[in-house]
Amino acid sequence: MIGCWVREREAQIDRIDFFVRKCPAANRYRNRFWLERSWTFEGIVLGTKVEQPRIVVSPPGPKARELLEKDEAYISHSAVRWYPLVAESGSGCIVKDVDGNEYVDFNSGIAVLNVGHSHPRVVQAMRDQAQKLLHYSWTDFYYKPLIDLAEQLTKITPGTYRKKVFFSNSGAEAVEAAMKAARWHTRRLLFLAYTGAFHSRTFGAVGLTASKPVQRRHFFPLVPEVTHVPYPYCYRCPFHLEYPECSLWCVDFVDEEVLKKYHPPEDTAAMFVEPVQGEGGYVVPPEDYFQRLKKTLDKYDILFVDDEIQAGLGRTGK
Ligand SMILES: Cc1ncc(COP(=O)(O)O)c(C=O)c1O
Repeated sequence: MIGCWVREREAQIDRIDFFVRKCPAANRYRNRFWLERSWTFEGIVLGTKVEQPRIVVSPPGPKARELLEKDEAYISHSAVRWYPLVAESGSGCIVKDVDGNEYVDFNSGIAVLNVGHSHPRVVQAMRDQAQKLLHYSWTDFYYKPLIDLAEQLTKITPGTYRKKVFFSNSGAEAVEAAMKAARWHTRRLLFLAYTGAFHSRTFGAVGLTASKPVQRRHFFPLVPEVTHVPYPYCYRCPFHLEYPECSLWCVDFVDEEVLKKYHPPEDTAAMFVEPVQGEGGYVVPPEDYFQRLKKTLDKYDILFVDDEIQAGLGRTGK
């Protein structure tokens, strides 16, 4: 998505280099553009300057309207769509609808297509694998690409400790697995999570989710037991305090008002966090927050589960 500006930025950097030679003070602008230039993937420029968006028929066009009617007839209403875009193809940061309209895509598959739509290397890897072997079930047998990927992930994720990878089909399944692993490992039952959290909608995960009543309405009882605490949202602080004068009361609150009063730490398996709260409003906690929280959890051997399904790998372009 972002990579489409790279070539243009490179031209700008060349112009800035020229000015830097003449005027060293311009260097700070160069550094800014240098950062933007790094929006490449393994040295590959992800896109080129684009001419879109291009609207050829007022959306939703006739083909889209026909499909919307069919969707209404045949697709479960449990999914909520934001607007009537019927996507047909995509390339880099551009997505095209069934009527030929082209848009600059800021959705990016809900922020998961980090290298853009149909990146040639991704497509090639999928094509190569599909021609060799489509499925055999890794839960019962072994595959080389799976082992290689796991090894790669343990190398590129932070931390030098020993790691293992569990592959699953979706974020929901990963969260469910983390809940089970935490219970298994600690032999404790309780969980902590945040108000505003989104960890998905399956029966275990929806107990952690607390961003909209509609996600839980008519589904109780959920998997017990989850206590929700306020997310560190400084702009609209739930405690009406100011950072940094608050001394991160939101961390001490977990210790003093929850764990010491009614949620026994020795029964608490794990706390689930989103490092940046996604669906809850794209909330970025203060820099020192998670270090402080982790220290509190470590005091009681409560596991820290970092759900980066939305905020995760590669989002910063690094
Ligand atoms: C933080 C977080 N966890 C879990 C999920 C669920 O992922 P999936 O839709 O792949 O099940 C999401 C989805 O948006 C998410 O943002």
